[in-house]
Amino acid sequence: MKDTIQKIGVFTSGGDAPGMNAAIRAVVRAGIYYKKEIFGIMRGYEGMIEGDIVKLGVRSVGNILQRGGTILKTARSESFRTPEGRKEAYDNLKKEGIDALIAIGGDGSFTGLHKLFEEYQLPCVCIPGTIDNDIAGTDYTIGYDTATNTAVEAIDRIRDTALSHNRLFFIEVMGRNSGYIAMNSGIAGGASIIIIPEENLTFEDLYKFLGAGKESSKRSNLVVVAEGSKIGGANELAKMVAERSSYFDIKVTILGHQQRGGAPTYFDRVLASKLGVAAVEGLLAGKTDVMAGIKDNKIVYNSFNDVVNHRHEIDQEEWRIAKILSI
Ligand code: F6P
Repeated sequence: MKDTIQKIGVFTSGGDAPGMNAAIRAVVRAGIYYKKEIFGIMRGYEGMIEGDIVKLGVRSVGNILQRGGTILKTARSESFRTPEGRKEAYDNLKKEGIDALIAIGGDGSFTGLHKLFEEYQLPCVCIPGTIDNDIAGTDYTIGYDTATNTAVEAIDRIRDTALSHNRLFFIEVMGRNSGYIAMNSGIAGGASIIIIPEENLTFEDLYKFLGAGKESSKRSNLVVVAEGSKIGGANELAKMVAERSSYFDIKVTILGHQQRGGAPTYFDRVLASKLGVAAVEGLLAGKTDVMAGIKDNKIVYNSFNDVVNHRHEIDQEEWRIAKILSI
């Protein structure tokens, strides 16, 4: 065990994700279990630069496990991209005596942590927290399961009204450049077409699939579109289909930020708890500049380069299932 580490700073950064609070709680409680002091850094790298740092105790993370959002708040920091910004941040950490860091966030958060490690050799571990499930080195990111459940609930509701009116709905889900939320909310919500950035579907393929006016074509259909779709988002696709044919009564729903909020599912709470403990234990075992992740239900640690220079590929077996069932 690394006895040189006594004070660990924890923060959330980038887009918030349900389950981040459960991860903060796990880091704080695991840290205290191993007799370390834990400090919360507010608003990610912004708070680090401003010295907005608070001591956290076992009770300060009570009753947060079940809450969405992040009690430490989050931000996307421009100033931290500069060496001057990082120097200010490091000086503030030193002032508090913080000698190791745990970041909960996505690729951008990990990149910031890596820079700090390169420049100041501060031991650090990242925990993947983003609804997008777009991080290599882990099968799941914290928040993805909850966001996908939220999307499925919305799709179920839209299905009721789509069927009643015989309407074609384009439902856009988040995910940035990743199709994970779209693929799995599409499978679980029974979408007839799922459009993800990882596939090279053309508008002609989509139009053919809808089969406007053909005997076999349904007027009521649910198309789930990932926001990163290469052939256009839900609004554009709806417009393109309407310009081609008046056969369908078309509506669009953009699910948006509701996918980022809400109580985390059991899955995200457990994942966050495991990764929070793993991050502390990893640091104390001497690991640094790594991300704690989960692969085949086992904790793994991957280096910055292995995580950031790779894409979390879409699960081909799930995609195959999605294709078989969308008929
Ligand atoms: O990375 C999480 C995410 O919700 C993406 O799915 C989405 O593209 C983006 O963040 C939205 O960012 P913002 O909240 O800054 O609008």
